Amino acid sequence: MEDPDKFNILLVDDTPAKLEAVASILDCLRQNVVRASSGREALRLVLKHDFSVILLDVKMPEMDGIETAELIRGHKRSQLTPIIFITSYEHAEVDMLRSYAVGATDIILWPISSSLLCAKVMTFINLQKAVKEKERLLEHLESLVAERTAALSREIEERKKVEKNLRKSRDDLASALANLRDTQELLLHADKMAVLGTLASGVAHEILNPLNVIGLTAQLLKKKSLSGEADELAERILKQTARATKITNNLRFFSHRSQVAAQPVNIGEVLDNAISLIEHDLRLGDIYIERNFGQGLPTVSADPDQLCQVFLNLLTNARDALKQRDKRTVSIAAHASGEQVQVDFSDTGSGIPKAVVDRIFEPFFTTKPAGEGTGLGLPITRSIVQSFGGTIDVESKEGKGTRFFLSFPAGKK
Ligand SMILES: Nc1ncnc2c1ncn2[C@@H]1O[C@H](COP(=O)(O)OP(=O)(O)O)[C@@H](O)[C@H]1O
Ligand SMILES: [Mg+2]
Repeated sequence: MEDPDKFNILLVDDTPAKLEAVASILDCLRQNVVRASSGREALRLVLKHDFSVILLDVKMPEMDGIETAELIRGHKRSQLTPIIFITSYEHAEVDMLRSYAVGATDIILWPISSSLLCAKVMTFINLQKAVKEKERLLEHLESLVAERTAALSREIEERKKVEKNLRKSRDDLASALANLRDTQELLLHADKMAVLGTLASGVAHEILNPLNVIGLTAQLLKKKSLSGEADELAERILKQTARATKITNNLRFFSHRSQVAAQPVNIGEVLDNAISLIEHDLRLGDIYIERNFGQGLPTVSADPDQLCQVFLNLLTNARDALKQRDKRTVSIAAHASGEQVQVDFSDTGSGIPKAVVDRIFEPFFTTKPAGEGTGLGLPITRSIVQSFGGTIDVESKEGKGTRFFLSFPAGKK
């Protein structure tokens, strides 16, 4: 029964001579012919192996062919196996009835015609072949379906991965683009500042001297005390000269940006200093200053005079924005946050219209009447803050107020 390409035929007969006779007829089919000499032996074999056809002698002692067939049919493995009964001519009629009753597929009578037996057995073997082929095809089909399903889910996984990568690349690209835009803006700003710096140092150099001379001359004129009117005119010249000198000095900040004399600075002290310089002015304008800072803050590395100028610029702007407001308060808060020291200036002033808030750090941008604003306060402020490694931002609501928040890298406490 070893050859898997051959089909198994079970031959059951208690008479050895008959067993051999039938077996030799079946030899020409070149299949596995298995012999059993009793019903019991046949049952044992049927439980262990698959048979394409069973040839069963009806007349046997102990358990005859009919009983054997009944038991064979009782097992799942063999319930559909074709059974051909072999009986003698004289018992044919009785045996036929009993045989078909227990599910015989066919009956063959002694003496056996070898060609008829071979043809019948071959029919069942061909049937078995067809069934096996069908099963093989089915299995093949199933494995094809399984393979395709696996390939498809692999493809889907792959596609998901590609999509995820694509999405990430797109996000990376978008953030790179945003970075590029920011850098471009910074470069543009730096460019503007550089041009302005060169221009400023030239202008400052050329203009400060004549301004000085005009100022001195006006003072001399005043000393001469020609008349009340001349005095007044000289005073006006002096005032305007002082103003022009101040603007020119402001411009110089752009050209001296790189020469930062940084030292550890106590922010609280510089804030107090800046407030004391403008306090009188604020009091006149009925402006109340709220101080939310102590002296125990970490130091920041800066030039105290330039930092004072930053705070003064912010306070001056707040003062201007608070004119004609009912509530006039500037709150100044400072606190350490992680590696930073943060300083906030909030006012209850007029606020900045949305349309211009992006422009307030531009050099010469001002909303103040001619002669009052230079539009240099905030660009200088930002320039100074950045030179100490800090940042300045603004948040404003028109009609409600404005908040500038500054952040500096903290030094030691
Ligand atoms: N605290 C503030 N409240 C409202 N507007 C402000 C404030 N600070 C600045 N601004 C706006 O920003 C502009 C630019 O300010 P700045 O650079 O200091 O120049 P200037 O004060 O000479 O106009 C101001 O003209 C004003 O419109
Ligand atoms: Mg200003």
